[in-house]
Order: sequence, then structure tokens, then C-alpha cells
Amino acid sequence: MSKRISLTRYLVEQQRVNGHIPAQLRLLLEVVSRACKRISFEVNKGALGGVLGAAGSENVQGEVQKKLDIIANEVLIEANEWGGHLAAMASEEMEGIYLVPNRYPQGEYLLLFDPLDGSSNIDVNVSIGTIFSVLEKPQDQRGVTVDDFLQAGAKQVAAGYCIFGPQSTLALTVGNGVAMFTLDREQGSFVLIEDGVKIPEDTKEFSINMSNMRHWDPAVRRYIDECLQGEDGPRGKNFNMRWIASMVADIHRILTRGGIFMYPWDKREPHKPGKLRLMYEANPMGWLIEQAGGAATNGRQRILEVQPTQLHERVSVIMGSKNEVERVQRYYAEYDAEQQAVSA
Ligand code: AHG
Ligand code: MN
Ligand code: MN
Repeated sequence: MSKRISLTRYLVEQQRVNGHIPAQLRLLLEVVSRACKRISFEVNKGALGGVLGAAGSENVQGEVQKKLDIIANEVLIEANEWGGHLAAMASEEMEGIYLVPNRYPQGEYLLLFDPLDGSSNIDVNVSIGTIFSVLEKPQDQRGVTVDDFLQAGAKQVAAGYCIFGPQSTLALTVGNGVAMFTLDREQGSFVLIEDGVKIPEDTKEFSINMSNMRHWDPAVRRYIDECLQGEDGPRGKNFNMRWIASMVADIHRILTRGGIFMYPWDKREPHKPGKLRLMYEANPMGWLIEQAGGAATNGRQRILEVQPTQLHERVSVIMGSKNEVERVQRYYAEYDAEQQAVSA
């Protein structure tokens, strides 16, 4: 039988052999992966478990909550509040932060999550997922506040997602490359399927919601327009398009075979920097992408360097194969330079 490496063993090796993570972080990631396993089982029940459909409520961002948004949120809270490794949690589905009851010495970490990403796909049996990000709690004796969470993505100490698709697969980085683990449902554990995941630097596949085309800014329009011209245009090659509408599934495809994912700022709600959330969508995904050799930007700045000012802050997102992301960044720089020249 070929040697199977479980997530547990991988994490022990990251701690003991590579000295890459402290024991407390290893134990926290174990708890998060157990929560993902439970969510996977809930997702799998579908209509038989009564988990589909709307919950009849809205979250802080005014979005309709699905039953599974709430179930996944509760699973993550319940699993982590007794772990002893966390000081507090924050979630897409909760307005404020969740302080972990202080029954132990206070935990050293902060956990942020999008409990269920791709909510519009729940009821149609298309891949969805859970996204998570881990930060260190600043070292002082005060109680935890929202300000403690407002750290740039470059400060993350662990990040990942679990996609619930034909397989449930967990992708993880602790700053030492990206590893993927698929849930063996008979054995009940995540088993390593790939370590050192690498995204090709070039791609012929883009991922964007084309129905928003008329709302984009000129840099994004130029990039997509050139892709659409295919062999006959300046790129001299044909492009393919994929849009699953679950970020977790689109990013999983890009980590697997390359591509560029974009949810840019658009004119529909000009005062918002974008649709996706910085702290529990863009930051963890951006770090995974960078750790796999790709790039992640808001067009003008590296996502991991954006200093958050709010827990539920939004951001424009362009990430994936390095050369394509850099091209979009170049188009932004050229557009900005033109605008400056006009106004000078
Ligand atoms: P969530 O379900 O957590 O609110 O996230 C949905 C996000 C993301 O997963 C996806 O890429 C995007 O919204 C899809 O948006 P459109 O429906 O506008 O295409
Ligand atoms: Mn999401
Ligand atoms: Mn969500």
C-alpha cells in the first residue's frame, strides 16, 4: 500500500521536523480541519438533512443568509471556543468579534472565516467552501478588540480553505508553500494529495462575472477585451472563460491548473472598493496564491499589504497566474498615468 500522509502527520512534521509552526497553531489547525469535516457532512446531507434554502435573516452586509451560512458559522464557533488556542473569532456572518470564553489562559491566536463561500450555489449542488485566516493576537494584557484583527494579510500565520465539491479538499499554507488534503470519508481524515502546489505563470483562462462588463473601469475592460479578441488581437492567443460564482471553487481551479480570477471594483456601487471581503476572502486566498507562485493585487497594491480599517472591509480582487496579474497591474498603471497627463 502506498504511504498515505494525513493532515495530522503533516502538521506534526511542520511543527517538529521543520520547526515551522508552534504546537498551539498545529492544534488550532486540527480543530479548524475537524470543523471543515463536520461542515462537509452537513453539506452532503442536502435536502435530506433539511439544510438547503434561506434562513429568513440577513447578515451585517445586508445579504440574505442561507441555512448553511448559519450552520457552518455555528460549527466553526462551537469547535473552536473550547479549543483553548484562540482569543477571538470573526466571521462574515457576525457583525462584531466573538470573544472566546476565558476558561483557560487566553489563547494566542485570532481566527477569521467565511463559513460558507458561494452561498448562491448551495441549493443548486455546485461546489462551495469554507475559507479561513489565522493571525497572532497582539501581545498585551488587554482584552481583545476589533483593532487587534486589523492586521494586513502579510501578517497571517496560517490560511486555507476547504472546498465541498465532488471531493472535500482542504488547501493550507503556513508560509511554507501550499499543501492539499482530500477527505477520506471512510477513514474520517484528510489525506495529503499534493504538496508544493505551483501555479503556472502564464494562462489562457480568465474568470470574471462578464455580466458586469459595462460597469468595469478602463484597465479591466482593456484586459478582458484583449483576451476576447483571441488569436486575432494583441495577445495572439485564444482564451477560455470560467465563472463558478464560488470564489473557493474558482481559486481551487486556479491553484490546480492556473488562470486569473477577478472581482474588480465596479460602478454599480462606486463607494465600495469591491464586492469581496478583504480579511476572510481576499487575504487568505491571496496568500495561498502567492505561496503557490502566483500574484494577488487590487490593481494598484499587493492585497497582502492593504491595511484594513474595518473588519468587513471590501477590496477589489485580481489574483492568479503571475504574468497575467502583472499585466493587469501594468494596465492600471498606464491608465493612471494617462489620467494624470490629462489633468496636468
Ligand atoms: P459569499 O457566498 O460568501 O457571500 O461569497 C460569494 C462571492 C464569491 O464566492 C463569488 O466569487 C462571488 O461572490 C460571486 O458573485 P456574483 O454572484 O456577483 O457573480
Ligand atoms: Mn464568500
Ligand atoms: Mn459566505
